[in-house]
Amino acid sequence: MLSKENILKNMCTVTFGREIIYLDEIDSTNNYAKNICENVINGTLVVADCQTSGKGRLGRSWNSPHGKAIFMSLLIKEDIDVSKASMITLVAAMAVLEAVKKSGLDAKIKWPNDIVVNGKKVCGILTEMKTDSSNAKYVIVGIGINVNNDSFSEEIISTATSMKLEAGEDFDRNVIVCDVMKGFEKYFELFTRSGDLLLIMSEYNDNLVNVDKEVMIISGEDSYKAISKGIDRNGGLIVNDSYGKSEVIVSGEVSVRGVYGYV
Ligand code: BTN
Repeated sequence: MLSKENILKNMCTVTFGREIIYLDEIDSTNNYAKNICENVINGTLVVADCQTSGKGRLGRSWNSPHGKAIFMSLLIKEDIDVSKASMITLVAAMAVLEAVKKSGLDAKIKWPNDIVVNGKKVCGILTEMKTDSSNAKYVIVGIGINVNNDSFSEEIISTATSMKLEAGEDFDRNVIVCDVMKGFEKYFELFTRSGDLLLIMSEYNDNLVNVDKEVMIISGEDSYKAISKGIDRNGGLIVNDSYGKSEVIVSGEVSVRGVYGYV
C-alpha cells in the first residue's frame, strides 16, 4: 500500500523527498504543491493515491485512478533561472527512466520527457513555475507513472501502458517513488554543476528513442520529416532536414512524433 510511512522507510536521499505530504485524493498534486510552496521546505514531495483533475501537458488531462499509479509533485525552492526550468523536466525524465529500468523494463525516453516501454507511454512529467509576492521562484515537477494500471480508456489505449501491463507483475509504488527521488537527486546535482544538461545529455541520448531515425516535426498546421540526432546541452532536439540542414527544436513550440504514430 502506498503511504507516507512506507515511502519514508525506503527513502535514501538527502534533500528530495525527505519531507512527504501524502494525500488519499486531491485535484492535482501540482496545484496542491503550488498552494503550499511558501510554507514547506525545499525538496518536499506531495504524493497522492488518486487525482480528480490530474493535469497533463498542453492543457490535457492526466488519467489518475485510485490505488494503481503514482502521482507526485516535487517542490524545488532553489534559485533557478526561469529559462532553465524546462531542463529540469529532462532531469526528471532521467530519474524516472532509471527507476523503471531498475524494475526490469526496457524503458526509453521520447523527447522531451515521456518515458515509453514497447512504444507506449508509462510516465508523463509536467513542470510548472510559481513566483511569490517577494519574487521567490519555485519549481514544481509533477510526475505521473502508470505502475499497476490494468487498463486504459479507448482514447489513450493505443499510446498508454503501465509497468504492470508490460511486465505481467505488480510493482511496489513506495519503492518506485524512492528510486525516482534517488535518481532525481543524482541528476539534479549534475544539472546544477554545469547549469545545463551537459553532464547528462550523453546518457539521455543513449536512451532516446528514434535517434538517427526519421521523426515527424509538428508545428501548428505544419509538419515535416527530419532525422533526430539527440539533444543539445539545453535540452533542444537537434534534427537534420532532408537537405542535411541542422536545426534545434525547442520543446513547447512543436511536438515530435514517430513517422508512423506516437513513437
Ligand atoms: C504529460 O502530459 O505527459 C504530463 C503528465 C503529468 C502528470 C502528473 S501526475 C502528478 C502531477 N499532477 C498533475 O496534475 N500532473 C502531474
